[in-house]
Amino acid sequence: MTETLWNDVDTYLTDLLVTPDPALATALAASEAAGLPAIAVSAPQGKMLHLFARMLGARRILEIGTLGGYSAIWMARALPSDGKLVTLEADPKHAEVARGNLARAGLGERTEVVVGKALDTLPGVDARRDAPFDLCFIDADKANIPGYFDASLAMTRRGGLIVVDNVIREGHILEPNHDDAVRGVRAFNEKVAREPRVTATAIQTVGAKGYDGFCMVLVMGEANG
Ligand code: SAH
Ligand code: DHB
Ligand code: MG
Repeated sequence: MTETLWNDVDTYLTDLLVTPDPALATALAASEAAGLPAIAVSAPQGKMLHLFARMLGARRILEIGTLGGYSAIWMARALPSDGKLVTLEADPKHAEVARGNLARAGLGERTEVVVGKALDTLPGVDARRDAPFDLCFIDADKANIPGYFDASLAMTRRGGLIVVDNVIREGHILEPNHDDAVRGVRAFNEKVAREPRVTATAIQTVGAKGYDGFCMVLVMGEANG
């Protein structure tokens, strides 16, 4: 009942506020046809990431966790023609589906899908000088969020934003040893709380993705609150 209502409200908001983009619909259809799990951000969430990128005037975006490229399309749509989005994906099949979806969206030139476990590929991203990033979106295996945050922080410009998905986990975030994902998110939260170069908040969400939430971390580059 409640989740049906959350879904209906997301549909209502999407119909009103989210301009239909055939490339996004095609990307979801191709992802489903290829057997990828239906765990991409929702349409209103995708548009939120898109608006963040526009607010930041983003020219360089990093994503950790590509899946079929749905959130990547949303963010890359906010880039100027000489902008770049780098997205990291461990599963070669997901990466292949994402490359097809990004190409069909006309974003092939502006995007790069890097295959491999993100903790292994992140140092290479830095070396290729795609950094510094204006926006980082962390949305892969949750146990490694602390490591992804460290790498992202080192590559994000002052005034840039790091967004982390799935930080509430139906409220399980309050149970310290619920599972590896909760342990990862809690270790990340504690790291953010101790880190003087950033200021952050987290927002609980309901909708088509159930009860979860995002953490938003503003990179100040120096300790000044
Ligand atoms: N951001 C996507 C959803 C990502 S789902 C969207 O909203 O459209 C999480 C993705 O992270 C999956 O595709 C999974 O294969 C990938 N992943 C899991 N572990 C990873 C790792 N160690 N390194 C990189 N990607 C990983
Ligand atoms: C899962 C991963 C996600 O990033 C998400 O937003 C929802 C679910 C998952 O692995 O189940
Ligand atoms: Mg997610």
